[in-house]
Amino acid sequence: MDKMFEGKTAFITGGGSGLGEAIAKDFAQHRANVVIFDISSENGNRVEEEIKIKGGNALFIKGDVKDSTSVKECVAKAFDKYGTIDFLINSAGILRDGLIHKLSEEKWELVIDINLKGSFLCLQECTKRWIEDAKNNRKEHISDYPDKRVINISSQAAEGNIGQVSYASSKAGLIGLTKTAAMELIRYNIKTHAIMPTLIETPILGELLEKEDGKWRKYYEGRIPLGIGKTRYVSDAIRFLCSNDSWFMNGVILPINGGRLGPL
Ligand SMILES: NC(=O)c1ccc[n+]([C@@H]2O[C@H](COP(=O)([O-])OP(=O)(O)OC[C@H]3O[C@@H](n4cnc5c(N)ncnc54)[C@H](O)[C@@H]3O)[C@@H](O)[C@H]2O)c1
Repeated sequence: MDKMFEGKTAFITGGGSGLGEAIAKDFAQHRANVVIFDISSENGNRVEEEIKIKGGNALFIKGDVKDSTSVKECVAKAFDKYGTIDFLINSAGILRDGLIHKLSEEKWELVIDINLKGSFLCLQECTKRWIEDAKNNRKEHISDYPDKRVINISSQAAEGNIGQVSYASSKAGLIGLTKTAAMELIRYNIKTHAIMPTLIETPILGELLEKEDGKWRKYYEGRIPLGIGKTRYVSDAIRFLCSNDSWFMNGVILPINGGRLGPL
Protein backbone atom coordinates (compact mmCIF):
# COMPACT_ATOMS: atom_id res chain seq x y z
CA MET A 1 0.00 0.00 0.00
CA ASP A 2 1.28 3.49 -0.62
CA LYS A 3 0.22 6.36 1.60
CA MET A 4 -1.10 8.79 -0.98
CA PHE A 5 -4.51 9.20 0.71
CA GLU A 6 -3.44 8.57 4.30
CA GLY A 7 -5.83 10.39 6.68
CA LYS A 8 -8.30 11.20 3.89
CA THR A 9 -11.87 9.91 3.65
CA ALA A 10 -13.68 9.08 0.42
CA PHE A 11 -17.49 8.82 0.32
CA ILE A 12 -18.40 6.72 -2.70
CA THR A 13 -22.01 6.33 -3.77
CA GLY A 14 -22.64 3.12 -5.68
CA GLY A 15 -19.48 1.78 -4.06
CA GLY A 16 -20.87 -1.75 -3.97
CA SER A 17 -20.39 -2.55 -7.66
CA GLY A 18 -18.64 -1.74 -10.92
CA LEU A 19 -16.84 1.60 -11.08
CA GLY A 20 -17.69 2.56 -7.48
CA GLU A 21 -16.31 -0.74 -6.22
CA ALA A 22 -13.09 -0.31 -8.22
CA ILE A 23 -12.67 3.25 -6.91
CA ALA A 24 -13.35 2.13 -3.32
CA LYS A 25 -10.74 -0.63 -3.55
CA ASP A 26 -8.20 1.60 -5.27
CA PHE A 27 -8.59 4.42 -2.72
CA ALA A 28 -8.38 1.95 0.17
CA GLN A 29 -5.23 0.55 -1.40
CA HIS A 30 -3.84 4.10 -1.20
CA ARG A 31 -4.80 4.28 2.49
CA ALA A 32 -7.99 6.36 2.29
CA ASN A 33 -10.83 5.58 4.68
CA VAL A 34 -13.55 4.48 2.34
CA VAL A 35 -17.29 4.89 2.88
CA ILE A 36 -19.36 2.71 0.58
CA PHE A 37 -22.85 4.14 0.20
CA ASP A 38 -25.07 1.74 -1.70
CA ILE A 39 -28.63 0.49 -1.84
CA SER A 40 -27.45 -3.12 -2.05
CA SER A 41 -26.50 -4.59 1.35
CA GLU A 42 -25.15 -7.72 -0.22
CA ASN A 43 -22.64 -5.90 -2.42
CA GLY A 44 -21.86 -3.16 0.09
CA ASN A 45 -21.02 -5.66 2.82
CA ARG A 46 -18.97 -7.73 0.38
CA VAL A 47 -16.84 -4.77 -0.75
CA GLU A 48 -16.35 -3.61 2.86
CA GLU A 49 -15.18 -7.11 3.80
CA GLU A 50 -12.88 -7.47 0.78
CA ILE A 51 -11.21 -4.15 1.58
CA LYS A 52 -10.75 -5.04 5.27
CA ILE A 53 -9.25 -8.44 4.42
CA LYS A 54 -6.54 -6.61 2.50
CA GLY A 55 -5.83 -4.33 5.49
CA GLY A 56 -7.84 -1.34 4.27
CA ASN A 57 -10.29 0.81 6.17
CA ALA A 58 -13.90 0.64 4.95
CA LEU A 59 -17.42 1.26 6.17
CA PHE A 60 -20.56 0.21 4.31
CA ILE A 61 -23.64 2.34 4.85
CA LYS A 62 -26.88 1.24 3.24
CA GLY A 63 -28.89 4.04 1.73
CA ASP A 64 -30.74 5.44 -1.26
CA VAL A 65 -29.24 8.43 -3.07
CA LYS A 66 -32.61 9.65 -4.35
CA ASP A 67 -33.99 9.95 -0.81
CA SER A 68 -32.85 13.14 0.96
CA THR A 69 -33.47 11.70 4.45
CA SER A 70 -31.36 8.67 3.65
CA VAL A 71 -28.57 10.83 2.20
CA LYS A 72 -28.58 13.05 5.32
CA GLU A 73 -28.32 10.02 7.60
CA CYS A 74 -25.54 8.38 5.60
CA VAL A 75 -23.45 11.55 5.34
CA ALA A 76 -23.94 12.12 9.09
CA LYS A 77 -22.73 8.58 9.84
CA ALA A 78 -19.64 9.12 7.70
CA PHE A 79 -18.83 12.42 9.45
CA ASP A 80 -19.42 10.79 12.86
CA LYS A 81 -17.06 7.96 12.08
CA TYR A 82 -14.25 9.79 10.28
CA GLY A 83 -14.67 13.44 11.27
CA THR A 84 -15.06 14.68 7.70
CA ILE A 85 -15.30 13.66 4.04
CA ASP A 86 -12.50 14.77 1.73
CA PHE A 87 -13.62 13.17 -1.54
CA LEU A 88 -17.22 12.78 -2.66
CA ILE A 89 -17.47 10.39 -5.61
CA ASN A 90 -20.97 10.21 -7.10
CA SER A 91 -21.03 6.85 -8.86
CA ALA A 92 -24.50 5.45 -8.06
CA GLY A 93 -26.43 5.20 -11.29
CA ILE A 94 -28.87 3.11 -13.28
CA LEU A 95 -29.98 2.59 -16.86
CA ARG A 96 -33.61 2.39 -18.02
CA ASP A 97 -33.35 2.56 -21.76
CA GLY A 98 -36.11 3.11 -24.30
CA LEU A 99 -36.93 5.08 -27.40
CA ILE A 100 -38.51 8.47 -26.75
CA HIS A 101 -42.00 7.51 -27.92
CA LYS A 102 -42.03 4.37 -25.78
CA LEU A 103 -40.30 5.35 -22.54
CA SER A 104 -42.60 5.40 -19.50
CA GLU A 105 -42.75 8.41 -17.21
CA GLU A 106 -41.74 6.13 -14.30
CA LYS A 107 -38.52 5.10 -16.03
CA TRP A 108 -37.69 8.70 -16.91
CA GLU A 109 -38.23 9.79 -13.30
CA LEU A 110 -36.29 6.95 -11.75
CA VAL A 111 -33.19 7.57 -13.87
CA ILE A 112 -33.26 11.34 -13.29
CA ASP A 113 -33.89 10.83 -9.56
CA ILE A 114 -31.01 8.43 -9.02
CA ASN A 115 -28.41 9.68 -11.51
CA LEU A 116 -28.98 13.43 -11.31
CA LYS A 117 -30.94 14.29 -8.16
CA GLY A 118 -29.01 11.69 -6.16
CA SER A 119 -25.71 13.34 -7.07
CA PHE A 120 -27.14 16.75 -6.18
CA LEU A 121 -28.41 15.57 -2.78
CA CYS A 122 -25.04 14.08 -1.84
CA LEU A 123 -23.24 17.20 -3.04
CA GLN A 124 -25.63 19.42 -1.11
CA GLU A 125 -25.33 17.47 2.13
CA CYS A 126 -21.53 17.41 2.06
CA THR A 127 -21.36 21.04 0.96
CA LYS A 128 -23.54 22.24 3.83
CA ARG A 129 -21.11 20.73 6.31
CA TRP A 130 -17.99 21.89 4.47
CA ILE A 131 -19.27 25.47 4.23
CA GLU A 132 -20.37 25.54 7.87
CA ASP A 133 -16.91 24.36 8.86
CA ALA A 134 -15.25 26.96 6.61
CA LYS A 135 -17.41 29.75 8.08
CA ASN A 136 -16.45 28.70 11.59
CA ASN A 137 -12.75 28.66 10.65
CA ARG A 138 -12.25 31.66 8.37
CA LYS A 139 -9.05 31.75 6.33
CA GLU A 140 -7.32 34.52 4.47
CA HIS A 141 -6.66 32.53 1.28
CA ILE A 142 -8.92 30.04 -0.46
CA SER A 143 -6.12 27.51 -0.55
CA ASP A 144 -5.91 27.59 3.26
CA TYR A 145 -9.33 25.91 3.55
CA PRO A 146 -9.32 22.10 3.64
CA ASP A 147 -8.88 20.70 0.11
CA LYS A 148 -12.12 18.98 -0.96
CA ARG A 149 -12.86 17.20 -4.22
CA VAL A 150 -16.15 16.17 -5.80
CA ILE A 151 -16.18 13.80 -8.76
CA ASN A 152 -19.40 13.22 -10.68
CA ILE A 153 -19.62 10.25 -13.01
CA SER A 154 -21.25 11.48 -16.18
CA SER A 155 -20.92 9.49 -19.40
CA GLN A 156 -20.07 9.83 -23.05
CA ALA A 157 -23.84 9.32 -23.48
CA ALA A 158 -24.27 12.92 -22.27
CA GLU A 159 -23.59 13.87 -25.90
CA GLY A 160 -26.66 11.88 -26.98
CA ASN A 161 -27.33 8.21 -27.60
CA ILE A 162 -30.23 6.60 -29.43
CA GLY A 163 -32.52 4.75 -26.99
CA GLN A 164 -31.04 6.42 -23.91
CA VAL A 165 -33.03 9.63 -23.57
CA SER A 166 -33.39 9.44 -19.77
CA TYR A 167 -29.83 8.30 -19.17
CA ALA A 168 -28.28 10.81 -21.59
CA SER A 169 -30.35 13.63 -20.07
CA SER A 170 -29.29 12.70 -16.54
CA LYS A 171 -25.64 12.55 -17.58
CA ALA A 172 -25.81 15.85 -19.48
CA GLY A 173 -27.44 17.33 -16.37
CA LEU A 174 -24.42 16.26 -14.37
CA ILE A 175 -22.20 18.43 -16.58
CA GLY A 176 -24.26 21.52 -15.69
CA LEU A 177 -24.23 20.50 -12.04
CA THR A 178 -20.46 20.07 -12.13
CA LYS A 179 -19.73 23.39 -13.81
CA THR A 180 -22.05 25.27 -11.46
CA ALA A 181 -20.57 23.62 -8.39
CA ALA A 182 -17.06 24.31 -9.65
CA MET A 183 -17.86 28.03 -9.99
CA GLU A 184 -19.84 28.34 -6.79
CA LEU A 185 -17.77 26.27 -4.38
CA ILE A 186 -14.19 27.10 -5.27
CA ARG A 187 -14.32 29.99 -2.80
CA TYR A 188 -14.21 27.28 -0.10
CA ASN A 189 -11.45 25.30 -1.86
CA ILE A 190 -13.97 22.68 -3.02
CA LYS A 191 -13.02 21.49 -6.52
CA THR A 192 -15.62 19.75 -8.64
CA HIS A 193 -14.97 17.60 -11.70
CA ALA A 194 -16.87 15.19 -13.93
CA ILE A 195 -15.67 12.27 -15.97
CA MET A 196 -17.30 10.99 -19.15
CA PRO A 197 -16.43 7.33 -19.61
CA THR A 198 -17.18 5.34 -22.73
CA LEU A 199 -18.42 1.75 -22.39
CA ILE A 200 -16.76 0.06 -19.40
CA GLU A 201 -17.44 -3.60 -18.60
CA THR A 202 -19.45 -3.60 -15.34
CA PRO A 203 -22.71 -5.16 -14.07
CA ILE A 204 -24.73 -2.12 -15.24
CA LEU A 205 -24.54 -3.52 -18.78
CA GLY A 206 -26.46 -6.68 -17.78
CA GLU A 207 -26.54 -9.17 -20.64
CA LEU A 208 -25.68 -6.58 -23.30
CA LEU A 209 -22.21 -7.86 -24.20
CA GLU A 210 -23.13 -11.56 -24.17
CA LYS A 211 -26.55 -11.60 -25.85
CA GLU A 212 -27.04 -12.51 -29.53
CA ASP A 213 -23.79 -14.52 -29.56
CA GLY A 214 -21.67 -11.55 -28.52
CA LYS A 215 -22.90 -9.38 -31.41
CA TRP A 216 -22.85 -6.24 -29.28
CA ARG A 217 -19.44 -6.99 -27.78
CA LYS A 218 -18.03 -7.20 -31.32
CA TYR A 219 -19.88 -4.04 -32.28
CA TYR A 220 -18.45 -1.98 -29.41
CA GLU A 221 -15.00 -3.47 -29.80
CA GLY A 222 -15.15 -2.20 -33.36
CA ARG A 223 -16.32 1.26 -32.32
CA ILE A 224 -13.85 1.97 -29.49
CA PRO A 225 -10.27 2.05 -30.84
CA LEU A 226 -8.73 0.81 -27.57
CA GLY A 227 -11.53 -1.68 -26.86
CA ILE A 228 -14.24 -1.94 -24.22
CA GLY A 229 -12.97 -0.28 -21.02
CA LYS A 230 -11.84 -1.83 -17.76
CA THR A 231 -12.81 -0.29 -14.40
CA ARG A 232 -9.14 0.44 -13.68
CA TYR A 233 -9.05 3.04 -16.47
CA VAL A 234 -11.69 4.99 -14.57
CA SER A 235 -10.33 4.56 -11.04
CA ASP A 236 -6.87 5.66 -12.24
CA ALA A 237 -8.33 8.90 -13.62
CA ILE A 238 -10.33 9.56 -10.47
CA ARG A 239 -7.29 8.98 -8.29
CA PHE A 240 -5.54 11.67 -10.34
CA LEU A 241 -8.46 14.09 -9.93
CA CYS A 242 -8.27 13.62 -6.14
CA SER A 243 -4.47 13.83 -5.95
CA ASN A 244 -2.05 16.68 -5.32
CA ASP A 245 -1.07 16.46 -9.00
CA SER A 246 -4.44 18.00 -9.95
CA TRP A 247 -4.41 20.53 -7.10
CA PHE A 248 -4.56 23.53 -9.50
CA MET A 249 -7.53 22.18 -11.49
CA ASN A 250 -11.26 22.83 -11.10
CA GLY A 251 -14.30 22.06 -13.26
CA VAL A 252 -12.53 19.49 -15.41
CA ILE A 253 -14.87 17.51 -17.67
CA LEU A 254 -12.70 14.54 -18.52
CA PRO A 255 -13.49 12.13 -21.35
CA ILE A 256 -12.30 8.56 -20.75
CA ASN A 257 -13.03 7.55 -24.28
CA GLY A 258 -10.90 4.58 -25.30
CA GLY A 259 -9.61 6.72 -28.14
CA ARG A 260 -13.01 7.45 -29.70
CA LEU A 261 -14.25 11.01 -30.17
CA GLY A 262 -17.92 11.52 -30.85
CA PRO A 263 -20.88 9.23 -30.16
CA LEU A 264 -20.53 5.46 -29.91
N1 LIG B 1 -20.21 0.97 -17.09
C1 LIG B 1 -20.24 1.90 -18.04
O1 LIG B 1 -20.09 1.62 -19.24
C2 LIG B 1 -20.41 3.34 -17.67
C3 LIG B 1 -20.04 4.32 -18.61
C4 LIG B 1 -20.23 5.66 -18.29
C5 LIG B 1 -20.76 6.01 -17.05
N2 LIG B 1 -21.11 5.03 -16.17
C6 LIG B 1 -21.67 5.46 -14.89
O2 LIG B 1 -20.84 5.00 -13.85
C7 LIG B 1 -21.62 4.87 -12.66
C8 LIG B 1 -21.38 3.50 -12.07
O3 LIG B 1 -21.90 2.53 -12.97
P1 LIG B 1 -21.39 1.05 -12.99
O4 LIG B 1 -21.07 0.73 -14.38
O5 LIG B 1 -20.38 0.87 -11.94
O6 LIG B 1 -22.75 0.27 -12.62
P2 LIG B 1 -23.08 -0.81 -11.49
O7 LIG B 1 -24.48 -1.22 -11.75
O8 LIG B 1 -22.03 -1.85 -11.46
O9 LIG B 1 -22.99 0.04 -10.13
C9 LIG B 1 -23.95 0.97 -9.78
C10 LIG B 1 -24.12 0.93 -8.26
O10 LIG B 1 -25.04 1.93 -7.88
C11 LIG B 1 -25.88 1.41 -6.87
N3 LIG B 1 -27.14 2.11 -6.82
C12 LIG B 1 -28.14 2.09 -7.75
N4 LIG B 1 -29.17 2.83 -7.33
C13 LIG B 1 -28.83 3.35 -6.12
C14 LIG B 1 -29.49 4.19 -5.20
N5 LIG B 1 -30.73 4.64 -5.43
N6 LIG B 1 -28.84 4.53 -4.06
C15 LIG B 1 -27.60 4.06 -3.79
N7 LIG B 1 -26.94 3.25 -4.64
C16 LIG B 1 -27.54 2.88 -5.79
C17 LIG B 1 -26.07 -0.05 -7.28
O11 LIG B 1 -26.54 -0.85 -6.20
C18 LIG B 1 -24.67 -0.40 -7.75
O12 LIG B 1 -23.89 -0.89 -6.68
C19 LIG B 1 -23.07 5.11 -13.05
O13 LIG B 1 -23.43 6.43 -12.73
C20 LIG B 1 -23.04 4.92 -14.56
O14 LIG B 1 -24.06 5.63 -15.19
C21 LIG B 1 -20.95 3.71 -16.43
